[in-house]
Amino acid sequence: MNAKIMVLNGPNLNLLGVRQPDIYGRDTLADIEKRLRARAQSHGLAIDMRQSNHEGELVTWIQEARTTCAGIIINPAAYTHTSVAILDALLACEFPVIELHLSNPHQREEFRHRSFVTLVAKGVIAGFGAHGYELAVDAMAKLLKDQGAEPKPEKREARKRAAK
Ligand code: DQA
Repeated sequence: MNAKIMVLNGPNLNLLGVRQPDIYGRDTLADIEKRLRARAQSHGLAIDMRQSNHEGELVTWIQEARTTCAGIIINPAAYTHTSVAILDALLACEFPVIELHLSNPHQREEFRHRSFVTLVAKGVIAGFGAHGYELAVDAMAKLLKDQGAEPKPEKREARKRAAK
């Protein structure tokens, strides 16, 4: 079975396409999901893409991903800048986390410059609009490939012991 990546979207991203299109573009979340699914498939990955306006629901989905997914791509939207709960849920995950934004928050209001999620993210993709989702899945595919090539820490230790 293909490895599955959870792609989470936070509050107001259900309004993509009509919400401040000058900032977020004209693509809807459904448009983005369609392209993303094809891109993921080309890497041999499956995606589980979800959106919620509720912090707790996002936390529950992150907890679910711990046991069902190989990584998370997350656009936490406004919760990026406020949510310790989402950070804590991500900290409990052992797989790669990629933070994603359509806009570049660092070019915007100062309150958007702080991200809690960055503390746990392997990397951040921001400012490329809807295309950022595909960039994120490309980055995730490479991370998982490299991770598969490298022995896991416990295996490395076991090899060291075996070499003695
Ligand atoms: C966003 C940036 C956030 O600051 C904002 O609250 C969003 C969307 C982005 O994708 O650019 O809702 O995460």
